[in-house]
Amino acid sequence: MALVLPSSVWIEPGARRRVADEAAALDTSRALVVADAFLTERGVTGEIVALLEEAEFAVAVFDEIEPDPTDAAIDEGRAALVRHEADVVVAVGGGSVLDAAKTIAVRGANPGPLRQYMGYGQLAGAGLPVIAIPTTAGTGSEATRVVVVTDIATDTKMMLLDDRLVPKVALVDVELSATMPRPLTAHVGVDTLTHGIEAYVSQKATPETDELARSCVALCGRHLEAAWRDGSDLEARAGMARAAYEGGAAFANSSVCLVHGMSRPLGAVFHVPHGLSNAVLLPAVTAFSLPGAPERYAEVARAFGVATDGDDTATAGQALLDALERLNAALEVPRLRDLRGVDRETFDAALPKMAADALDSGSPDRNPVVPTQEEIEELYRRAW
Ligand SMILES: [Fe+2]
Repeated sequence: MALVLPSSVWIEPGARRRVADEAAALDTSRALVVADAFLTERGVTGEIVALLEEAEFAVAVFDEIEPDPTDAAIDEGRAALVRHEADVVVAVGGGSVLDAAKTIAVRGANPGPLRQYMGYGQLAGAGLPVIAIPTTAGTGSEATRVVVVTDIATDTKMMLLDDRLVPKVALVDVELSATMPRPLTAHVGVDTLTHGIEAYVSQKATPETDELARSCVALCGRHLEAAWRDGSDLEARAGMARAAYEGGAAFANSSVCLVHGMSRPLGAVFHVPHGLSNAVLLPAVTAFSLPGAPERYAEVARAFGVATDGDDTATAGQALLDALERLNAALEVPRLRDLRGVDRETFDAALPKMAADALDSGSPDRNPVVPTQEEIEELYRRAW
C-alpha cells in the first residue's frame, strides 16, 4: 500500500523560510495566508507574509480562525480566498488553523453544506494547493488527509477524510513550536503519542504505517517530558515536531481508533481542545483496548522505552498502562472533573449523545476491542 503524504516535506529549524520557494515551485503567485489572531499578534503571520512578498507574491491574510473551526469560519475564509483570487493557501498555525485552511482550499470545488462531504473520500473535486506550516508539535495535520470542522447547527464535529485534503508541502519548523506554553506542550504531546499508538494498534495498520508509528512513539518516549520540563530544550522540541509529523503521517494512512472517536464528542460538547480531550482519555481507553491486541501494545511499550525485548507480553502491556498514567500525572494533565465549565450533571446527561456520536464517527470500529455504546459511556465515566 502506498502512503499518501505531502510531496515536499522539510523538518528542520528555519523550515518556514522555504515558503516562497515552495510556493513558486507550485507555480503560484497569489497566496492567501490563513492563521489566527494570536499568531498575527506574535508577528508570525507577518513574517510569512513578508517572506512571500519579498518573492513578489500577492498576499492576503485571513486570520480569523478560532480554536475548533466551524463551518461558518470556513465559508468566511473561502470568501477571502475568492476576493483575493488566490491560487495557493499558506496555513500557519496549530491544528485548528491547518484544518480550516485545508478545508477552505477545497471549498470551491465542493460547494453546499459541508456536512454532505463528511466521511471517507466524499469530496467531489480537488482544491488549491496548501503549504502547511505547523506552529504546534501535535496534531500532525500538516501530514494528513483529515480535517475536523464543527457543524454549528448540530454542535458536532464533522470529520472529512480525502486524499485531496493532504497539503502539498509541509514545513515543520521547530523554531515555531519552541514557544508553546507548558499545558499546550503537554496536551498536543500526548495527542501525538496517541496518534502513534492508535495508528499502530489499528485494524488498518500496515507495515509502512507501523514504521512511522513506532518512530513517533519512540520520539515521544525520549522527548515529550523533556520538552514539557524545559521548553527551551530545542533537541526535545525538534524531536516532538518530528514525532507530530510522523504520527500524523501514520494515522492518516492507517487510522485513529477509540481514543479519537471518544475525544471528538467530548470536544464538541464541552469545548475542550483536541489535545486535552485525547490526553484525558488515553489511559482508560488503552486499558480497555489492550486485551484485543496484547502483542501490539507490548511493542508500543518497547518503542516507548518502558519495556524491553526481555519482558513478556503481559509485563510489557502493564508497563505501558502504568507509564501512561504516570505520564499524565507528570505533565499535569487534568482529570475531566477538574476542567472549568464541566459539571457532573451536564456530563452524565450528555453521555448517551457523546457515546452515540463516538460510534457514528467510525473510529471505534478500527479499535482492537470494538466497544458497545454502554462500554463507551463507562469509559467516559472512568475518565471523569
Ligand atoms: Fe489527534
